[in-house]
Amino acid sequence: MVRILSILVGLFFTVALAWSFVLGAITAATEPAPAMVEHEFHVAPKNVHFSFDGPFGKFDNQQLQRGFQVYKEVCSACHALKHVAFRDLAALGYTEAEVKAIAAGFQVPGTDPNTGEETLRPGMATDYFPSPFANDVAARAANNNAIPPDLSLITKARHHGSAYVYSLLTGYQEQPAELLKEFPDAKTPAGLHYNPYFPNLNLAMAPPLAAGQIEYGDGTKASVDQMSKDVAAFLTWAAEPKLEKRKQTGWPVLGFLLFATILGYMSYRNIWADKKH
Ligand code: HEC
Repeated sequence: MVRILSILVGLFFTVALAWSFVLGAITAATEPAPAMVEHEFHVAPKNVHFSFDGPFGKFDNQQLQRGFQVYKEVCSACHALKHVAFRDLAALGYTEAEVKAIAAGFQVPGTDPNTGEETLRPGMATDYFPSPFANDVAARAANNNAIPPDLSLITKARHHGSAYVYSLLTGYQEQPAELLKEFPDAKTPAGLHYNPYFPNLNLAMAPPLAAGQIEYGDGTKASVDQMSKDVAAFLTWAAEPKLEKRKQTGWPVLGFLLFATILGYMSYRNIWADKKH
């Protein structure tokens, strides 16, 4: 009886599974694929290697310092890093005096001690990287109606975040002729910029980097590729400063699990040793 019942239950699930597969296959075969400009020309991030990739990955402090320089001299004109405090930069190898000097170079919101009015004051080590705009309206007004997002968590908020930021910065190009031939209405609107790595292909950020735009303190040549890679690395650190620690704790944990498994197996053998026929 139980046997017949279990066969019936099994049969029911098999039929249900087969039915949903057939239905899905019929839909896939008969419905036309939606004509999506975005998905045809939108491409996955480039394959780029970073020092922090893989289970043994580590940040390269020199690269992070270069990336920070790119952020400070270029990106900070539009993007905040509201979850990163100036004093966090000590982790990249800056001294206390350097951190103070960097902080003082930024204007952060404050209160006038005499009038109580809101003003700006030079940053202190405990302050966070501010937005250069007073509010969203000002940010939109200055950026073709788009708000430059806070970059503290951007590498976490996008798939393949580090590679995405790198690809976006190095990915500006002319609109492909096939795209315009296929979709004549899809011309990039004035004020926007074509970039196949951006999900809707046209973005309000003009290409922010140009070769030789900054002069690296360590003498590295400031190509667009180099700056993009460095700032992507810096933003990865900003989003997950404890990445190295996370990777490092993984190994002892795995070692312990392996040890516990071997121990468990050995005691199993021991306990059952004389119980076998
Ligand atoms: C002149 C202002 C300006 C500068 C300078 C600038 N950006 Fe942007 N950025 C923007 C605006 C505006 C957007 C929003 C674009 C949109 O939504 O169409 C944006 C969007 C982004 C995005 C998000 C894309 C997404 O997936 O939503 C990233 C990442 C980014 N910028 C990185 C950078 C980096 C890194 C730098 C420095 C090398 C930089 N930006 C410099 C204005 C700027």
